[in-house]
Amino acid sequence: MFDYAFNPNLNKNPDWSEFEFLNNSDMLEFHKTLDGYKPTPLRSLPKLASKLGLKEILVKDESKRFGIKAFKALGASYAIYRYLKNIYENKFADEFTAASFKDPEALKKLAAITFTAATDGNHGRAVAWTANRLKQKAVIYMPANTAPSRIENIEGENATVVLVEGSFDDCVAQCAKDAEANGWVEIADTAYPGYMEIPKYIMLGYSSILYELEPKPNKPNKPDIDFVFAPAGVGGIAAAITSYYIKHYQENSPKIICVEPRDSDCYLASIKANTGKAISSGGAMETMMVGLACDIPSLVAWPIIKDGIDFFMNCDDKYAVKAMHAYHAEGITSGESGSAGLAALLALFDKDAKAVRQKLGMNEDSRILLINTEGDTDPINYKKIIES
Ligand SMILES: Cc1ncc(COP(=O)(O)O)c(C=O)c1O
Repeated sequence: MFDYAFNPNLNKNPDWSEFEFLNNSDMLEFHKTLDGYKPTPLRSLPKLASKLGLKEILVKDESKRFGIKAFKALGASYAIYRYLKNIYENKFADEFTAASFKDPEALKKLAAITFTAATDGNHGRAVAWTANRLKQKAVIYMPANTAPSRIENIEGENATVVLVEGSFDDCVAQCAKDAEANGWVEIADTAYPGYMEIPKYIMLGYSSILYELEPKPNKPNKPDIDFVFAPAGVGGIAAAITSYYIKHYQENSPKIICVEPRDSDCYLASIKANTGKAISSGGAMETMMVGLACDIPSLVAWPIIKDGIDFFMNCDDKYAVKAMHAYHAEGITSGESGSAGLAALLALFDKDAKAVRQKLGMNEDSRILLINTEGDTDPINYKKIIES
C-alpha cells in the first residue's frame, strides 16, 4: 500500500489575485515559434482502461518533446525568454518579442550570459539546450551519483557539468552560491526565499502541455477528464496542471492527484502537517524516479498546490517498474520518472486500495489523464528494466 492524504483545505475557487503571473497566456504562442516545435501526441490506452475497469485513459506523451526526451524544455525556454525580455526592455526602447529570441542581432545587443541550474537531469538539459540555441554558456550542477548518460546529454549541449556530493537540494544551494560569486544567471526550477521570479515562468512554460489539449479533451466549461495525475518533484509541473485546471474550470476542474516517490514526498508531508506551510519530508531520497527526488517544495508551487490538489499519495518504485512495462506494451517509451502518474494509478488498483479508490470516486465512468513526462533519458537503465 502507499501513504496518502485527502486535502483537508481543498478550494477549487481560491483567491489567487496576488499571483498575477498566472494571468500570462502567451506561453504556447512562444513555444510555437521555436524551431522543432510540434504538439506532443495524445494517446489513448483502451486495453489498460478496460482491464482496470475505467472508461478512458489518455496519455499526453512528452517523451519526444523537442528531441530532448522530456517536457522540461517548455519551462526553461519560456523562463529564459522572459528573463531576456525583461533585461532587454529595461535597457532599450524597442520590444523584445518571441522573434527577438531567435534573432542574433537582438541577442548581440546584450552582453554574453552564462546560465546556470541545478538538476537531476531533465531541467539542466533543458537549460543547456536553450542556452546552446542562444549560443550562450551554461553551467549545470548535478548530484555526483547521476547516471552517466544524463551527464553526457547535458555536455552534448556544450554545457559544463559540475558534480556535487549530495542530493538535488544540495545542488540547488551550490548553484545559487556559485551564480552569485560568478555573476551567472540562475535558472532554478524551484523557488526559495529571495528567489521567486524565474520559477514562476518555468511553471507557466509547462502549462503549454495543457493548452495543447484544447479544444479536446480540454473543452470549454468542462473538460472530458475526471482525474489528472500530477507528478511532483519541486512541484512546477503539478502547479502548472493545478493552476490551468482551476483557472479554467473552478468546480468543474478534474480531480487532481499528486504523486511523489515513497522516500521523497514533501508535498504529502506538508499536506499531512496541515500548518499551511511547506515542509521537507526528511525522506531517504532513495528512488529511481530521480526527477521527483526533491525534498523541499518550491515556494511558487506550494501555494497553488495546497489549494487545488484533491489527493496526495506516494508511490513505491515497484509500481514505476510496472508502469514502464505497461507503457512499453502500448508502444510508449516512459522513463523512470515519466511513468510516475501511471505508477500511482496502478497502485490505486491494488486490492488493498479499493476503499481509497471508492472514496476518490474513481470508477467505470472515470476518464483519466496521465502525462508521460519523459522518455528513456537513461537508456541503459530503461533497457535493463524493460528486459527484466
Ligand atoms: C521526468 C520528470 N517528471 C516530473 C518531474 C517533476 O517536475 P517538478 O520538479 O517541476 O515537480 C521532473 C523534474 O525534473 C522530471 O524530470
